[in-house]
Amino acid sequence: TRRVTIPELAARKGGQPIVVLTAYTAPIARLLDPHVDALLIGDSVGMVLHGMDDTLGVTLDMMVLHTQAVKRGSTRAAIIADLPFGTYQSSPQQAFDASAKLLAAGAQAVKLEGGRTMAATISFLVERGIPVMGHIGLTPQSLHTMGGFRVQGRDEAAAEKIIDDARAITEAGAFSVVIEGVMEPLARRITETIAIPTIGIGASADCDGQVLVTDDILGLTGDATPRFVQRYADLAATIDEAARKFADDVRARRFPGKAHIFFPKAAQ
Ligand code: KIV
Ligand code: NA
Repeated sequence: TRRVTIPELAARKGGQPIVVLTAYTAPIARLLDPHVDALLIGDSVGMVLHGMDDTLGVTLDMMVLHTQAVKRGSTRAAIIADLPFGTYQSSPQQAFDASAKLLAAGAQAVKLEGGRTMAATISFLVERGIPVMGHIGLTPQSLHTMGGFRVQGRDEAAAEKIIDDARAITEAGAFSVVIEGVMEPLARRITETIAIPTIGIGASADCDGQVLVTDDILGLTGDATPRFVQRYADLAATIDEAARKFADDVRARRFPGKAHIFFPKAAQ
């Protein structure tokens, strides 16, 4: 099997919905790989795996390590990695240097947050051979500007600004854009307006694709998951039960059994 390419994803505008899930580790990437079009190494890794309160403390070194792991664990899904906060906003050159490290780690494209403000940076990267996915609407790295993780584009002026951001990203050469946490009609309008595939999360069923955080759909991230998450499994309960059974077996000296331990030949 051959890996899904970035031009193949870009060509899916208005076609069969693009399926994206996050992955941070090789074993999870291996399990998701047959089912998705792309694996996203999201900077959500900071919150989901490392227990951070937000994504602001995620480093490029973390993203490189998780990208390498996901690349090793997969063979067919396209690999897209987030540029973390502080590694791309100050200049196109800074963005290029950070992106080059993610591509060297195995990513085929990078994702960065921001609209018209980031357009010059997006074209700088694209002209130099780095495919870019945009990310607009609720942009978690702007947590403190938004005053929390809250739905964006509620009034007409805010909606118009997000549409303008989508246009600017498209003109800059992004191959696709994530639309997160906006009112449904706005996500639908952007999808109808721009020529590149939109990937929704808390957006619209009419987006050209959907993305969710894998740990959320597996029921690993606690009870306070956002409204836009659909839970497809309850792995927290499965893990709780496995750990409890192991603890009970150890305390009752039921584990290890004969099958799990080694005896010298003479004693058998
Ligand atoms: O970091 C992330 O996981 C993301 C997706 C939720 C789009 O950016
Ligand atoms: Na992200």
